Amino acid sequence: MPAKPDRELPVLLREYRPPAWRVDHVDLEFDLGIHRTRVDARLTLRRAGPAGEPLFLDGEGLRLVSIALDGRPLDVTEYRLDEHGLTIAQMPDGAVLHTCVELDPSTNSALQGLYLSGTPEHGFLLTQCEAEGFRRITFFPDRPDVLARYTTTLRADPARFPILLANGNPAGTGLLDDGRLWARWDDPHPKPCYLFALVAGRLEVLERAFVTAEGRAVTLRIYAEADAIDRCGYAMDALERAMRWDEEHYGRCYDLDVFHIVATHDFNMGAMENKGLNIFNAKYLLADPARSTDDDYRHVEAIVAHEYFHNWTGNRVTCRDWFQLSLKEGLTVFREQQFSADMGSHVLKRIEDVQLLRRAQFPEDAGPLAHPVRPDRYSAIDNFYTATVYDKGAELVRMLAGRLGPAGWRRGMDEYFARHDGEAATVEDFLAALGEANEVDLRGYLVWYAQAGTPQLLASGRYDAAHRTYTLELRQHTAPTPGQDVKQPLPVPVRLALLDAGGQPLPLRGASAQAAVSECVVELRDAQAAFTFVDIDRPRAASLLRGFSAPVRVEAGFGADDLAFLVRHESDGFNRWEAAQQLARLAFDRVLAGDLRAAEIGVWVSTVSALLDDNRVEPALLAELLTPPDALELAERCEPFDPAAVYRAREFLEKSLAQVTGARVAARHGQLVEAEQGALDGASQSRRRLAGRCLGLWMRADPTAAAEVAARRAAQAPNMTERLAALTLLAHHGAPQAEAALGDFAARYADDPITLDKWFALQAQIPAEAAVERVAALRADSRFNLRNPNRVYALLRAFAARNLVAFHRPDGAGYALIEDCLVELDAINPTTASRLAATLKDWKRLEPTRRVLLQASVERLAAAATSPDLADILRRTLA
Ligand code: PHE
Ligand code: ZN
Repeated sequence: MPAKPDRELPVLLREYRPPAWRVDHVDLEFDLGIHRTRVDARLTLRRAGPAGEPLFLDGEGLRLVSIALDGRPLDVTEYRLDEHGLTIAQMPDGAVLHTCVELDPSTNSALQGLYLSGTPEHGFLLTQCEAEGFRRITFFPDRPDVLARYTTTLRADPARFPILLANGNPAGTGLLDDGRLWARWDDPHPKPCYLFALVAGRLEVLERAFVTAEGRAVTLRIYAEADAIDRCGYAMDALERAMRWDEEHYGRCYDLDVFHIVATHDFNMGAMENKGLNIFNAKYLLADPARSTDDDYRHVEAIVAHEYFHNWTGNRVTCRDWFQLSLKEGLTVFREQQFSADMGSHVLKRIEDVQLLRRAQFPEDAGPLAHPVRPDRYSAIDNFYTATVYDKGAELVRMLAGRLGPAGWRRGMDEYFARHDGEAATVEDFLAALGEANEVDLRGYLVWYAQAGTPQLLASGRYDAAHRTYTLELRQHTAPTPGQDVKQPLPVPVRLALLDAGGQPLPLRGASAQAAVSECVVELRDAQAAFTFVDIDRPRAASLLRGFSAPVRVEAGFGADDLAFLVRHESDGFNRWEAAQQLARLAFDRVLAGDLRAAEIGVWVSTVSALLDDNRVEPALLAELLTPPDALELAERCEPFDPAAVYRAREFLEKSLAQVTGARVAARHGQLVEAEQGALDGASQSRRRLAGRCLGLWMRADPTAAAEVAARRAAQAPNMTERLAALTLLAHHGAPQAEAALGDFAARYADDPITLDKWFALQAQIPAEAAVERVAALRADSRFNLRNPNRVYALLRAFAARNLVAFHRPDGAGYALIEDCLVELDAINPTTASRLAATLKDWKRLEPTRRVLLQASVERLAAAATSPDLADILRRTLA
């Protein structure tokens, strides 16, 4: 490989070469200023590749002030600078390179590298380095397999920057002769540069002491701006729970004397796991009863845990290259899913995770941006922080964990940490450690990592009364995806039970198995296989893929009656919900086909509405059982895709259910909110979820009466969950009270950006054609700001991704609006622009009128795109 990569070509997995140079130590000194920051870097370099190979260091947008090798200033002929970095041809085998560069954080609107959060007068400085931001701070081999020890010294005006933070343990602080404050940080753990971070500014702190199971005393601190610090308590509690949980379930303790989290309103993603210094999008850190919904609380807990868990899965064991991104992300999402399930309800957590997978990942896997969990090529790595890498990646880890069982999984993970602590690993390393610790060969699962697309699983069962056997036939098929025409069979674990007429599992005996079990896992390894259970009564129904044991689409040919039976009798909570979803899908298909009197619709309505009278069903689960699949899931069933038709058909189902349940849901809503105090325990959250669902159905049954109650709850409910749900219903159903309620909400939360984002997002999703004009007006509103990713996502992404009626207005006005925003946004923040542009991926599936319009928009954008990120998304979208 040439020392300096060719940027025109995609990066290929198969061309991986170990780094030619290692960095043993990095000594960084920052002289910080909002408009001018100076970075002195001393890299202790060691040749790792062949003699004579030049040194190439990545560096972008840096103004080189000075450069010296082993103390000797370099002459301009001794190095070469271009827009991608610095090359030194003649290098000894070991040397200390000192570079000094300058940058201007205040103009960094991409929010990668060193940037300013907030205004120049009041804001603070921080960094974001994953994936390739460190090269915007100093010259460095910016790749995750170069692990180094870091010492960081920060110097700044103490009036403006009283808090100076970096990775690792504190190693001194004081005042300089010129009056400036200095602080030094020493990180004893070798790390890749994407985990580097610093923060400098005026921040308040919340502190708590923690002692690890190994006896290490750790100070936990959460930093936020003054108006936010009193909303950090919940995150602190969640952090403590996550730290304990990782000790108990994985035997992993924290490994520094301090653990710091900082909240910012200006962040491209959710949060970042920088070593010992996590940086959070404030949206996922701050929580308080008056302003946060139950969903917000769950997200904060989940993301605090996710970033904390990265300390072992991501930081102590990191990734060899960015192709292995899911090695840390899929694994960490899975660990967070286990944790969140333990903290709340296992069934509800699984339902939420599967919903996310179906709404975000399945469509990704079925469209032009489909890619394997481990991609084999990329042009812009920032475009691979996807639902596939994260959420499908977590499903693959779940299958592996399921295959090994709890004890085997723990053994395998212990082995993985033991082998690779302090190293940069690959997916192969992971599978080898898990497999060898358990003496099983897991390499068959590599195909799951390498192959894109959601497999279709076809199942059919046969009972042989004469021999008392039941045979389950399974077949799999994966449709081609871009660049992968031929697909291989995958190992598909199918967890199943066979139920008798009362819903009880029948004892399962395989031909060879000794003891009977009530539930088992069969693994389909080939394109098709049959599994026979012996000495068994005739089952009333098969309960397949329990707990969603593999990320596939199942087609079992069940009719409405079979599914209704499962909704009534299935004991596995997840599969009970799944049966209700499948039943709703059958009904939806009939509505979409114009068959409004089809039996399936009636069966769905009567089956799920009957659950309202069953007080054994837990309220939150009942709410989910009463909800048809999201429009984004149903959209896939419409070919060609007519967004308005999907919306109407789903709404028809809602109304059909509402007509039958109207009086009951009104009464139930009354009961549920009567006792409402805004408490945060699980039972209260569960009741609120059902209250929201009841109000939604009531709104369709009796809009006048329901809207009056909704208007009162929007103004007065003692919690944000209900207020927001009520306001959303008023706005989405065009209730006469909607505008006043929206105005009140905006006035009340005018100075709280996180809550105001909710106000933007709910209006972006109003399912009416006129929402285009509303979104255009909001975009022009002084409160909107294209430079703030949260606001862009709240208004524009919510509109493009979720508003089937307005974004897809047949005159193309919705497309034009997003096109226009994207051109402007690309120049400001390419990451945010390309994440917004990913919502355009389904143009090819649209019915012809809309397809032509959206295609034209995408083509114009592709021609106008200036950033590699946006250009890459659009090129793949058009391909
Ligand atoms: N690594 C972060 C996480 O998932 C996500 C992230 C990626 C944040 C890139 C910022 C930039 O925890
Ligand atoms: Zn992560």
